[in-house]
Amino acid sequence: MADKISALKETGINTRLAHSGNNPSDFHGFVNPPVVHASTVLFPNARTMESRAQKYTYGTRGTPTTDALCEAINELEGAAGTILVPSGLAAVTVPFLTYLSAGDHALVVDSVYFPTRHFCDTMLKRLGVAVEYYDPMIGAAIESLIRPNTRLVHTEAPGSNTFEMQDIRAIAAAAHRHGCVVTMDNTWATPVYFRPLDHGVDVSIHAATKYPSGHSDVLFGTVSANVAHWPALTEAMVTLGVCASPDDSYQILRGLRTMGIRLERHQASALAIAGWLESRDEVARVLHPALPSFPGHDLWKRDFGGASGIFSFVLKADSTEKFRTKAHAFLDALSLFGLGYSWGGFESLAVHVNLSDRKVAKAPSEGPVIRLQIGLEDVPDLRRDIEAGFAAANAV
Ligand SMILES: Cc1ncc(COP(=O)(O)O)c(C=O)c1O
Repeated sequence: MADKISALKETGINTRLAHSGNNPSDFHGFVNPPVVHASTVLFPNARTMESRAQKYTYGTRGTPTTDALCEAINELEGAAGTILVPSGLAAVTVPFLTYLSAGDHALVVDSVYFPTRHFCDTMLKRLGVAVEYYDPMIGAAIESLIRPNTRLVHTEAPGSNTFEMQDIRAIAAAAHRHGCVVTMDNTWATPVYFRPLDHGVDVSIHAATKYPSGHSDVLFGTVSANVAHWPALTEAMVTLGVCASPDDSYQILRGLRTMGIRLERHQASALAIAGWLESRDEVARVLHPALPSFPGHDLWKRDFGGASGIFSFVLKADSTEKFRTKAHAFLDALSLFGLGYSWGGFESLAVHVNLSDRKVAKAPSEGPVIRLQIGLEDVPDLRRDIEAGFAAANAV
């Protein structure tokens, strides 16, 4: 058979998702890699044991299963290397612990995933790292916030819950002029719709719990780095002992095979519902980067190849006292949408978003923010469910 790895270089995204990360000839022709459960690895003799001069040496340092997934992710991200960790949150905290030391300053986008902020405000603070939150729309002006001790600039685009876009290229260029490492939580777009390293980011972070898993049953994180930042990242992973399980690694590789076509469906259904919501009297605004009405739409159009299935809308309320009761009435009337936090699975979800942590990117004033994850169900059924929610909210 001809060489698959070089053939993949010229192919489209779905072909790469279908074929990256496993060479069946390595495993007697089996299409999928084996799930290797391992702590101990044996050495053939004392000299090899002493020098560790063999491919696998210890379970935490990689197996054929984790290698298969890492290779697939490297290919998708255009990365020098990828580490696998047990959750999306660990995919944020491990690189922060890798690149930050006591006395350093870090700039973190204000529309960041809340548990990332919690890690910064508690553990990073205790370790002597100062964290400052910046406006997601800041662009090149981030340079004015960079101090002599700023080491890391963290981006997340679109932002959690309110979906602000960021000018990643401009931010990365400014950060690099001052020697900072640029990290990005790219969970929303996945490498199918945005490849951070191609846009100047040094370290790309994913909660693979979401679309790569796709079935609401696996917690997983991946962190991929460029050549300059890979050695420190892989060293930190080994030092911390944070590694992913073989079964979960296998499930994520399995999920990648269908992720492209699942995302197409998430994207189309979410856009159909977002557009319909814009026409509804009950809705003040829809927060979806792929809608021309959204303030960050031009950035999304310039940089992103598509949109995934999660966005928010602002439910109109005539007084702040009604925000909570209207939001709860809407949520409690839903039957197909589940009330749950972790997204990216096959099923639709809704949540009343809490934005009280924000320092710069303030909550909308027109009403409560409802975040929707649009799953793989049929759009007319989801619309009917939302209409039941509106009827209940209108009665408040
Ligand atoms: C943007 C983003 N990053 C990271 C995470 C963390 O992922 P996990 O739930 O696997 O810890 C989430 C989870 O919701 C998220 O939305």
